Amino acid sequence: MSDTASTAEAKLPKDLAAEKGLVNVQIDGIWRQVPKGTRMIEACRQFGVEVPHYCYHPKLSSPGNCRMCLVQMGMPPRPTPGQDPTFDDEGYQPIGWMPRPVIACANTVAENMGIRTGGELVEGVRKGVMEFLLINHPLDCPICDQAGECRLQEFSVGHGRFSSRFIDMKVKKPKNVEIGPRIRLDDERCIMCSRCIRFMDEVADDPVLGFTQRGTYTTLTVHPNRELDSNYSLNTADICPVGALTSNDFRFQMRVWFLKETQTIDVNCGTGANITVWTREDKVYRITPRQNDDVNSCWMPDSHRLNFHYIDSPERLTEPLVKAEGKHQPASWSDALGKVADALKSHAASEIAIVASAKLTNEELHLARTLADQIGSEHLTTVPRDAESDGILISADRNPNTTGSKLVWRRADPAFRLESIRDGVRDGSIKVVLSFGEDLTAEAGFSTEDLGKLDFLGSIQLLAGATAEASDVVLPGAAFTEKRGSMVNVTGRIQRLNRALEPRGLARDDWEILRDITASFKGESGLSADYPQMIEDVFSAMREEVSEFEGLTLSKIGDLGVSVTETGVTIPLLENERARKAAGEIVG
Ligand code: SF4
Ligand code: FES
Repeated sequence: MSDTASTAEAKLPKDLAAEKGLVNVQIDGIWRQVPKGTRMIEACRQFGVEVPHYCYHPKLSSPGNCRMCLVQMGMPPRPTPGQDPTFDDEGYQPIGWMPRPVIACANTVAENMGIRTGGELVEGVRKGVMEFLLINHPLDCPICDQAGECRLQEFSVGHGRFSSRFIDMKVKKPKNVEIGPRIRLDDERCIMCSRCIRFMDEVADDPVLGFTQRGTYTTLTVHPNRELDSNYSLNTADICPVGALTSNDFRFQMRVWFLKETQTIDVNCGTGANITVWTREDKVYRITPRQNDDVNSCWMPDSHRLNFHYIDSPERLTEPLVKAEGKHQPASWSDALGKVADALKSHAASEIAIVASAKLTNEELHLARTLADQIGSEHLTTVPRDAESDGILISADRNPNTTGSKLVWRRADPAFRLESIRDGVRDGSIKVVLSFGEDLTAEAGFSTEDLGKLDFLGSIQLLAGATAEASDVVLPGAAFTEKRGSMVNVTGRIQRLNRALEPRGLARDDWEILRDITASFKGESGLSADYPQMIEDVFSAMREEVSEFEGLTLSKIGDLGVSVTETGVTIPLLENERARKAAGEIVG
């Protein structure tokens, strides 16, 4: 590695760089410009130089306790009294390298600093750190659930010695400890990075984890009489760099290298946390949070990440059903859609109501409104789903797309007709109800008796339940993991749902069902050229009416979404993170 300055890219002159708050730093022999105050580890990362690390996490405080990120640092030697500093042809001072390493995670860059992430000194100390970390670590990689995503395994291959010099007995520690309802701890695998402890203290605001004992006997544990039962506990398994903390739900279900990753969004509340859905052979194995600093940072609640098992539950509806003589019979899609169209055609527009859901995508809401317009009915509503925010990530609005329904329907309150529809059903003036994605008896306030008064109830449903039971026609829809489309979260950010699985059985994506209901009502086919053939066509049609979506396509929304409107709503976790970043506690 050369200390000679080399210029890999255009840089600002020193005075202009200083004005912009940039400093000149030599990283592995190349001079770079980075913002003053940047941690050394982040400065390296910015230029594609990965410094191995365990305890450092940009969203948590930096205790600097694992020592894995050691690098060599250098600064210009201080001139002797009366001597002027010397500069090379490009204006940099020569670097005097320190004979010992420093940690890159907690130290910041300075003008004319040099960083070496390789070389004899750095490689030697890394080997030493790895050797210490592995002294007591069990060699159980073949049966460890972290295999495939274990940083200890990765770094021991990249920076370790490949053989152990340790001949004594390894320290024994508690194994397979159930420290909470969703998490299991193997203390022998813990490398004491303290990430989980800091996460529970600084992000989840429930500091239940800590270390006891000292030295090689240090043991991670839960505080006496407490368990790790926070609704954010599974994030500790995500950030644990080894297999010490594992999720009860996922452990030993599938090797991670067999899983396919799909980037999509959570639909359990208005926050719309960005997630990765991990699947194999059309089955979801786990859901993990995906970093989006404008939505959920790196985290998500356990209740949301585990809410996917219903997709393959026995209650899942997988074929259209038509009621004959009080009993549901399987039917073809065309028969089922024909029955819905007959009911719509044989009633006056004023007798028909549509109860759509703010759990639907923008595209589905657009098609639901198009259908209401075609029918000529004004009875169109969503169902509000309000509760308490948890003050972290779970929004008070438990519908994922209330903001989208406001924009797409051009209504300040898309649920304002719910009460009048309920009254209409009760007094008999509304005789036909189509329910799209809502269980009417659960949160929409209809009783089974109310539903019994209708001439016709048709519904798009995912699961069997009271509404499906009462429906004359049941159209099986798609789960959020089986859909494409977009939603707008509580802060006004449009985000994309991506399909990770095919809809089950004969179930179909809801937008296609809505298109086909509209087409059969008009006596046409959804496959004719007048109707959208792809969800992109629905987005284009919707964009004509929703000025906030101007210039966007589903593909332009990208994996991190785009802010399309200001709602004034903020996400508490992000506010907390911003304050901690401003205070210099975290990198952010
Ligand atoms: Fe770090 Fe995992 Fe040990 Fe927690 S359990 S201190 S995250 S290694
Ligand atoms: Fe720097 Fe652990 S990552 S000391």
